[in-house]
Amino acid sequence: MIPFQYFFPTTLKFGNGLANRAGELLKPLFRGKLLVVTDEGLIKSGVLEGFFASLSTADVAYDVFSGVEANPSTTVLERAVAFLKDHDCTAVIGVGGGSSIDTAKGVAAMATNAGTILDYEGYDRIPNAPLPIFAIPTTSGTGSECTASTVFTNKETLFKTVIISPRLFPQLAILDAELTLKLPPAITAATGMDALTHAIESYVSKQANPVSQALALGAVRLIGRSLRKAYYVGSDLAAREDMLVGSFLAGVAFSQSKLGNVHAISHTMGGVFNIAHGIANAALLPYVIAFNGPACPERYRDIADALGAEVAGVDAETAARRLVAQIVELNRALGIPSNIRELGVDLEHLPQMVADSMRSGNVLVNPRLTTAGDIERIILAAHAGNL
Ligand SMILES: [Fe+2]
Repeated sequence: MIPFQYFFPTTLKFGNGLANRAGELLKPLFRGKLLVVTDEGLIKSGVLEGFFASLSTADVAYDVFSGVEANPSTTVLERAVAFLKDHDCTAVIGVGGGSSIDTAKGVAAMATNAGTILDYEGYDRIPNAPLPIFAIPTTSGTGSECTASTVFTNKETLFKTVIISPRLFPQLAILDAELTLKLPPAITAATGMDALTHAIESYVSKQANPVSQALALGAVRLIGRSLRKAYYVGSDLAAREDMLVGSFLAGVAFSQSKLGNVHAISHTMGGVFNIAHGIANAALLPYVIAFNGPACPERYRDIADALGAEVAGVDAETAARRLVAQIVELNRALGIPSNIRELGVDLEHLPQMVADSMRSGNVLVNPRLTTAGDIERIILAAHAGNL
């Protein structure tokens, strides 16, 4: 077993209806004014009415930045930081999907650090403590409410830049499954497959440890038993709870272990083609498992088992192949394409996709040693639909 450590400073509070008590939970945690970072669609949906009412009831002063976009760019971040400074906010809460929480982390960091967020690419490079960061996820996917990372697309190069720092862990994450009851099926599918990909990539990562693996496998079980239900019966609260806790567990796991080739490649699909992150992951996942299978079949057998496949007495290589078929079937059930051509990936950009993938730290922890040629072959296979 390799030496390992486990660091997780985020306080988690889980409970149905808890967002309606956010004000009283947040009030003791900071002084001054709170910046709520979210998106316009969520405000218009009315889902956050109880949250905003709780801020007023608890006498928490706040302003709202609602300009968050999917695959957030440095341009949006700069706008949000200017807004924070104009309004003298002293703490930041991301309320929404991963893009809102990632943007909140970036704003909190850039309120106290010089330059641009891109200067802090990589691991543990943020020198000054950010403003206090809090998070309330309204999707069950990114796990950003419990990770040390944030991602921004450089508008000039279209490279999705990952910034990882222990300073980016939120202080408090409020998990309220009632906020996710009205998520449309397509978003449930995309975000749920993102969470499942986190759990699977974390479990097989070279940097996995016994703590992260226990969390990752727990996440696979919860997501495996409830993703279809959450997709087909969105109002099923028990399924929504499983998905929210599952995505949280997967986030805690991968904040320790990093991810793998799926995320290395999918980030380029988000940056260059603006494809939804979870859908890109879902479509790539079977091809990466097929590539990795020979390197760690026993681990994939564990995952197939946790996902409910009949693998007792089956050799590990066969179980790993069954897992590929399981994921293909799950994608089909969730209406996700089985290749990346249908998502709009144009092979004209293949050299940039390969170069950007190799720049990702995730390739280094992928269980099978991966060269640029391997990445190119995985992308070509996923484009042609050749499993
Ligand atoms: Fe992800």
